[in-house]
Amino acid sequence: MTEKKIPKDGLRTAMDDLKRVFRVSVPEANRIIYDFHREMVRGLSCKKSSLRMLPAYVDRPTGGEKGKFIALDLGGTNLRALEFELKGFGRSGKPKIMKFTLSKEEMDADSSRFFDFIAKSLKLFLKKEKIRDASALGFTFSFPVRQSGIKTGILVCWTKGFNVKGVIGRDVVGLLTKALIRNRIRGIDITALVNDTVGTLAAKAYSDRNCDVGIILGTGTNACYIEPVNNIIKIKSYGRYSSSNMVVNVEWGNFNKLKRTVFDDILDKDSANPAEQILEKMVSGMYLGELARIVLLHFNERGLLFSPTSRKILSKKGIFKTDHMSGIEGDSLYGLKTIDRLLNSLGIIGSTLSDRTAVKNICSIISERASRITAACTAAIITRMDPDLSRMHTIAIDGTLYEKHPNFSKNMRQCLIELLKGRASRVRISLAKDASGKGAAIIAAVAMKGAWRGAKICKTTES
Ligand code: GLC
Repeated sequence: MTEKKIPKDGLRTAMDDLKRVFRVSVPEANRIIYDFHREMVRGLSCKKSSLRMLPAYVDRPTGGEKGKFIALDLGGTNLRALEFELKGFGRSGKPKIMKFTLSKEEMDADSSRFFDFIAKSLKLFLKKEKIRDASALGFTFSFPVRQSGIKTGILVCWTKGFNVKGVIGRDVVGLLTKALIRNRIRGIDITALVNDTVGTLAAKAYSDRNCDVGIILGTGTNACYIEPVNNIIKIKSYGRYSSSNMVVNVEWGNFNKLKRTVFDDILDKDSANPAEQILEKMVSGMYLGELARIVLLHFNERGLLFSPTSRKILSKKGIFKTDHMSGIEGDSLYGLKTIDRLLNSLGIIGSTLSDRTAVKNICSIISERASRITAACTAAIITRMDPDLSRMHTIAIDGTLYEKHPNFSKNMRQCLIELLKGRASRVRISLAKDASGKGAAIIAAVAMKGAWRGAKICKTTES
C-alpha cells in the first residue's frame, strides 16, 4: 500500500484556519463577559434572555446542619441514591451510595415509567441499607426547572438528549411523589428539589464559607451562584423567603451570545434540540467528541486526513466520544501510539504520524475553546458578585470533563489569569467530586429548618 501524499501546506493552512475560527482571544472573552452580564440582568428581571436565571429558593448552608438525609441524584445517564450524615461544624460522614443506569428507553419513556424507575431504585436502596425511619429527601434533578419554592418546580425543557413524554410543564416533585405512592414507599418527605449545580455549591459551602459558585462540567454544563434577593426582580410574585441571599441557577448551557463556526452549526442542526443549549454544545462532554468528529470528517473530505476509506467510519454520528479526546490529548508517547490504538479501535487503520498529530491538534483546538468559554463565563459570574474581587471566592466544580480531561482545568485557569490578572489569585477552584447528591442531602437539611417560609412537607403515604 502506498502512503497517501498529503499536501503539507494544505494541512497547515487548514489547521491555522481552524485555530483562528475556534480562538477565544482575550478581547473576545471580555466581550463574552459583557454579554453574559447583560443576559444575567435580563434573566433576573424576566426580560427575554438566553440565561434562564432560575431562583433556587435556598441560601448556602451554614455548616451547622445536622442529621441523616437521603438524596436522589439524577444527572446524565446515572441515577444515584444516597444517605448522608451531617455532623455539624462542616463535618459529614461517608455517604452510602447506590448507582443505577438509565437505559435509552427510560430516557425516551413516558412520565410514569420514568418516575417509576426512580422510585423503584430508591426502594432497592432503602431495602439494601435497611432504612426504615421517616426521612427527608433531597432530589437533584439536573434539568431546567422553574421553581416556585424549595420543593416544587416545573420542568421548562429537557436537555442532554432526554425526551421523557409528559413531563415538560409539570411539577417534577409531584410526579415523583405519585411514583413513590404507586410503588408503596412510605415515610419519605421530599423536602428539596435541587439542580446539580446548586447541590455542588451546597456540598462545598457546607465546609467552606467562601464557596459561592457551583459549576458542572460533565455530560452537560451549567453554573449557579449567590445573588442578593433584592436583585431577583422576578421573584416578587413568588412569595416570602427568609434569607437576604439566594442561589440562582444560571442555566448557562443555553447562553447563545457566542461566535459560532460552521461545525457548530452542523452539530446544532443535527441535534435533538436545535437552536437551544448553544454554549452546552460548544463546551460539554455530551457534544465535544461529536464536534471533533465533524471537524475530522471535514478534514478527511478535503483529503487532508486519513485515507478516503475512513470516511464511512467518520460519518457515523456519535462514534467519537469526548473520552477519546481526553485519551488523544493526553498522548505523549513516541509516535503517538495511544492515538494509533484508539483510531484502530474505531476501525481507522494505517494512520500516519502526520494524521495522528493533526487529530491531536484538532482535539486540542476544540477543548481549549471550551475551557476558555467556561473561564469567561466563570469570570462573568464572579465579577457580577464582586466586581473588584475584594474577597476570596471558592468555585466548586464537579463533572468528568473537568476531572478527567488532561488540559481542561489548566487551560481554564490560564484564561482566568489572562482575564482577571493578579486578582485571579482570589479565585480558588476546587474539584467537588460527586457533590451534587451530597449537596441535595444538605439542602434537604436546610429546607427542614424552614429556609423557605411557607414550604409544606410533602409526605407520601401508602395508597
Ligand atoms: C444541562 C441542564 C442543567 C444541568 C446541566 C449539568 O445543562 O439543563 O440543568 O445543571 O446540564 O448537568
